[in-house]
Amino acid sequence: MTITTAGTPAADIEYHYDLGNDFYALWLDETLAYTAAKWDGIPRDEPDATALPRAQRAKLDHHLDLVGAEPDGGLRLLDVGCGWGAMLEHAVRGRRAAEATGLTISRAQHAHLEARGLPGVRARLESWEDHRPERPYDAVVAMGSFEHFATAEMDRAERLGVYARYFEQCHGWLRPGGRMSLQTIAYDGAADGGGPLGAFVGSDIFPGARLPRLSEIAAAADPYFSPTVLHASAEDYVRTLASWSARLLRARTEAERLVGEEGFRRYRRYLRGSEVTFLRGAATLYRIGFRRRDEPLRLPV
Ligand SMILES: C[S@@+](CC[C@H](N)C(=O)[O-])C[C@H]1O[C@@H](n2cnc3c(N)ncnc32)[C@H](O)[C@@H]1O
Repeated sequence: MTITTAGTPAADIEYHYDLGNDFYALWLDETLAYTAAKWDGIPRDEPDATALPRAQRAKLDHHLDLVGAEPDGGLRLLDVGCGWGAMLEHAVRGRRAAEATGLTISRAQHAHLEARGLPGVRARLESWEDHRPERPYDAVVAMGSFEHFATAEMDRAERLGVYARYFEQCHGWLRPGGRMSLQTIAYDGAADGGGPLGAFVGSDIFPGARLPRLSEIAAAADPYFSPTVLHASAEDYVRTLASWSARLLRARTEAERLVGEEGFRRYRRYLRGSEVTFLRGAATLYRIGFRRRDEPLRLPV
């Protein structure tokens, strides 16, 4: 089956995410979350073995709070770009969600989730563009997938068009009063493209991806959603990347066995380089809460 998407092509997604579940498991924490963790209140001297999973679960809880998930359960949740299922598992286990559906366009991630067979969790190998749920959801989360929805070849108008289609889809998926949460990297101090490091990440690590700007997200969401909360934290990515980088270095022998010396070097450079990008303020991390508007607004373009 071929998956088509306006954003990062499925083949490029597989180039990155299908490098091997075992490789990612070496340097991600036990949740296999592959987006920035939330580090508030986690002491700098806490050992990495407990600090990273704790910060990752704090991030998952933060998003579940943003979408109004109650501890006593019942939520119907959609996770757009679910990765290896960190949020899906946390929602059903931690918040007793009635149903957690995840979309991914990586075959390796989909296979991993199918093999786990977690009760209440459904994984679909499907792009957001093609998702047509049978019943509305209470909440939609997306962490680290929005960066893939546009490509470097698109101009601003084309990007805005795709982003607006995404928010329109989310509006259609959600019940009245439904909530949404979005975590994405975005350009901040860098005008465009992110300089030489952006070029390396764009060609060697994440081909076919394009970061948004906050103004683009706001303009595209405005007709469909009312923003409720905006957090910006480049620091959360700096600490997460430093932790991943240190873990990858500790697992060097095994990593080189799995992806070769060149693969190991490329990933170390990408993790360290991305850390510098956030430290310098070229890019930042946003977590945005939204409430569904009952009726979409007609706004001047
Ligand atoms: C950086 S990973 C983040 C995974 C997960 N949200 C987490 O926090 O660990 C990006 C995810 O977005 C998914 N993705 C990219 N483009 C997509 C699309 N068009 N439709 C659905 N998922 C997509 C990828 O398959 C991958 O699962």
